[in-house]
Amino acid sequence: MADADDKFVVMGLAGSLRRGSMNRGLLLAAQEVAPDGVRVEIADIASLPHYNTDLDGDAAPDVVKAFCAQMRRSHALLIATPEYNHSIPGVLKNALDWAGSSRCKPSPPLRANPVAVLGAAPGKSGTIRAQMALKTVLLACKCHIMMTHDTYYQNAAPAFSDDGRVIDPQVKKEMREILTGLRRWGDVVRSMK
Ligand SMILES: Cc1cc2nc3c(=O)[nH]c(=O)nc-3n(C[C@H](O)[C@H](O)[C@H](O)COP(=O)(O)O)c2cc1C
Repeated sequence: MADADDKFVVMGLAGSLRRGSMNRGLLLAAQEVAPDGVRVEIADIASLPHYNTDLDGDAAPDVVKAFCAQMRRSHALLIATPEYNHSIPGVLKNALDWAGSSRCKPSPPLRANPVAVLGAAPGKSGTIRAQMALKTVLLACKCHIMMTHDTYYQNAAPAFSDDGRVIDPQVKKEMREILTGLRRWGDVVRSMK
């Protein structure tokens, strides 16, 4: 599947809003090294309001509708998350709660999406607990999680510049491989529908 300019569009979500975020850096690297035919669009989740059922569905703020429309236009998701207190940051959970809501008509944009998950941490956790928590949320939203590329960056700081850019060629190579795998996984998921 591809969009009007024949690209497989991957929507990137980073669970960290800070300047110099390594996880956002992973998405920027994916954007930079995307294989032919794949485009990575990084979503703005910082401007989403706190999830509120009263505002969900038809009453959703324009910024939420735009976020959901971007997800519907995309063919797959790439989520890079840090680990906060052994789980995912609230800002990421908030975005997923909007996109996974059954009040989103005709169906939640998150549902049945092919998704690749990865994460970088300055310590030895490598975000493994956060990724488990994230996968639980994605399963609740009936996503199809790509299981072929476990990607946990431990003690990751040396792979990044101070402004959060990936400087390690091996990490860039792995971002490209993840996108190649995600495109293939997207085709598998589409063939199951
Ligand atoms: C509130 C908070 C909780 C954190 N909890 C954990 C944790 O449980 N495990 C861990 O490895 N790092 C933890 N960290 C450190 C993050 O891994 C670190 O801030 C990381 O750089 C975030 O990723 P980023 O570079 O994309 O911002 C925590 C940081 C914050 C701010």
